[in-house]
Amino acid sequence: MTNQEPIFSHLPVLPQEVIAGLAVRPGGHYLDATVGGGGHSRLILEAAPDIKLTAVDQDEDALTAAQKELGEFGDRVKFVRSNFAAYEFPSASFDGILADLGVSSYHLDTPERGFSFRHAADLDMRMDQRQTLTAADVINDGDEAELAKIFFEYGEERLSRRIARRIVEKRPFHTTTELAEAIASSVPPKYRYGRIHPATRVFQALRIVVNDELKSLETFLEKAPQALVPGGKIAIISFHSLEDRLVKHGLRNSPLLKVLTKKPITATEAEIANNPRSRSAKLRIAERSIC
Ligand SMILES: C[S@@+](CC[C@H](N)C(=O)[O-])C[C@H]1O[C@@H](n2cnc3c(N)ncnc32)[C@H](O)[C@@H]1O
Repeated sequence: MTNQEPIFSHLPVLPQEVIAGLAVRPGGHYLDATVGGGGHSRLILEAAPDIKLTAVDQDEDALTAAQKELGEFGDRVKFVRSNFAAYEFPSASFDGILADLGVSSYHLDTPERGFSFRHAADLDMRMDQRQTLTAADVINDGDEAELAKIFFEYGEERLSRRIARRIVEKRPFHTTTELAEAIASSVPPKYRYGRIHPATRVFQALRIVVNDELKSLETFLEKAPQALVPGGKIAIISFHSLEDRLVKHGLRNSPLLKVLTKKPITATEAEIANNPRSRSAKLRIAERSIC
């Protein structure tokens, strides 16, 4: 764990939409596969009487924060530290399952976790600090073609080859800011002073690779539906197109599910003004078929 007390934001995205989508019912048992700071879990626990909740997260800091946030619910909440892909889903047990994907604002705002180029920190980016692979390993050990492929596929970065070439020339890199500066210096000025920082896409790509995020999501989409009771709902919030594509197809192709959202649910202008993180959120919901 990091030295400071973990500070998680408790502002869950699409709050009413998630609770309505899960159709939370009294006495129900819910799985929050990404408990984070416990924001959505609290809403679920407060939505109806006698709710039980299983709260999963792979990040130790997140579980510490969630245990504190949800302490008042006592043994109605069970905490599990696990990647949601490795979680042993009990068969036909949950009335609803929620996954709010990706990193939390805590990850981005805690410099020493190495997710953000706004502060100098070791190139880390592990959500589960028990794993050994870090972003520094990916950047310093991958060959040029491999790096370009990662930036293109997972960051949808058009200048992937050019950036990979500069990184290989200038490495080794130890800190987030050193890497961000090298990326900025490798792209044309127009791109350098654009709407988003030129390192944004590369940092997204690295985070996805370090945490094997897309593979974990695929496994989750395969395993989770059988853990729902008939009529139980699964709600998944994604934050970029690579995730949303997997969610859309995973829900649609599951023989156990009926999709309830033809188009993803997105945040209202009012929510975006209050919680900018909700801008890119897409919520999809499906229901386990009765037979
Ligand atoms: C966006 S935050 C969740 C915020 C939470 N819904 C709230 O309201 O406070 C995502 C959380 O999911 C966790 N996470 C991401 N991928 C995971 C995975 N594959 N397995 C388990 N936890 C994961 C992260 O560690 C992070 O704490």
